[in-house]
Amino acid sequence: MKLTVVGGGSTYTPELIDGFARLRETLPVTELVLVDPAADRLELVGGLARRIFARQGHDGRVVTTSDLDAGVAGADAVLLQLRVGGQAAREQDETWPLECGCVGQETTGAGGLAKALRTVPVVLDIAERVRRANPDAWIIDFTNPVGIVTRALLQAGHKAVGLCNVAIGFQRKFAALLDVTPGEVHLDHVGLNHLTWELGARLGGPGGENVLPKLLAEHGDTVADDLRMPRALVDRLGVVPSYYLRYFYCHDEVVRELRSKPSRAAEVAAMEKRLLEMYGDPALDEKPALLGKRGGAFYSEAAVDLAAALLGGAGSPYQVVNTYNNGTLPFLPDDAVIEVQAAVGGDGAAPLAVPALDPLYAGLVAQVTTYEDLALEAALRGGRERVFRALLAHPLVGQYAYAEQLTDRLIAHNRDHLAWA
Ligand code: G6P
Ligand code: MN
Repeated sequence: MKLTVVGGGSTYTPELIDGFARLRETLPVTELVLVDPAADRLELVGGLARRIFARQGHDGRVVTTSDLDAGVAGADAVLLQLRVGGQAAREQDETWPLECGCVGQETTGAGGLAKALRTVPVVLDIAERVRRANPDAWIIDFTNPVGIVTRALLQAGHKAVGLCNVAIGFQRKFAALLDVTPGEVHLDHVGLNHLTWELGARLGGPGGENVLPKLLAEHGDTVADDLRMPRALVDRLGVVPSYYLRYFYCHDEVVRELRSKPSRAAEVAAMEKRLLEMYGDPALDEKPALLGKRGGAFYSEAAVDLAAALLGGAGSPYQVVNTYNNGTLPFLPDDAVIEVQAAVGGDGAAPLAVPALDPLYAGLVAQVTTYEDLALEAALRGGRERVFRALLAHPLVGQYAYAEQLTDRLIAHNRDHLAWA
């Protein structure tokens, strides 16, 4: 089995390699290709990848290349984990929205729109080249904003599934609190990428007993502390919002906080510098602990599981993915992309039925879906007015004056990445 990682020079890659090495029974990779335009990073990451495989007795071949077409040729699945403009562009996304009192974040709000506009055309071009090389290859998209990017891919007819590690993170966390294995915990995970709620946690599978009320009664403080949300809020909701909901439920507090400290991009850039130095050490042959400080924990487990299920291997039958709604949430269009539990197999992902969503969540999901729709329009067709419309529709922007100012700032900061600007 041949797997290609686009953005393979990312400092995240050793996390993925470690997963491929540990879980080789689930996903027998014989050739792993890391594709990246940055040759210097590729050399460092590729070297460590080979050492991790060797240490763990994995006999798969690791190939590095900056030639995308060569890299995707013959691949059974292609993982997209790229960041257009790197941490420097992310730093901008996290900064200029704050000037208007809006949250500065790489996937949520105005910053997330900027990232979508930079990313969608690049990802569509890559996907087209994957399709040309091998029309049967699966595309697994971890590139943010995953909801919008996955919709762009599906709309263009690609064999794509979107992936995020938020659900697997909750699964691991809940399993530890409940003292069971992660595989025993089935989440009733519903919403859009980075806008989800765990409505239940079932033991054994989709039909199992819902132990979330018990978990919240016994470990509510731990859950709320992790989310950095008030315990009283979690109790009143009775469900567990993802930590991205903090940008909504605690918006002003988050803005104050973001204004008072260095950006996450700056923090990550410093970590990346250190990680790359470590990767260059020929004695290092495992993923360093420092990588655990990145947000992508368990990403490798989720990616291996998904690729294995899509490629007819030993992956779990139910997984949380981003895919077409197709009536799952009846208040959304069929072609909206949602993030839910799905039955995953060789034919792709089919969402499991979900109970009627409380209007408290459904309203926000509908509003953000409208924003994502307009964001994709802006990403595909460009133009100042389309950017403005997406910002005006976003519940964290909303006001005319802010939408106007943020439109100008977004375009000014991203001119180099926007063909139409
Ligand atoms: C989580 C999210 C990812 C996001 C990451 C950011 O893992 O699911 O979508 O990219 O956090 O982590 P970072 O370490 O770059 O801040
Ligand atoms: Mn994510």
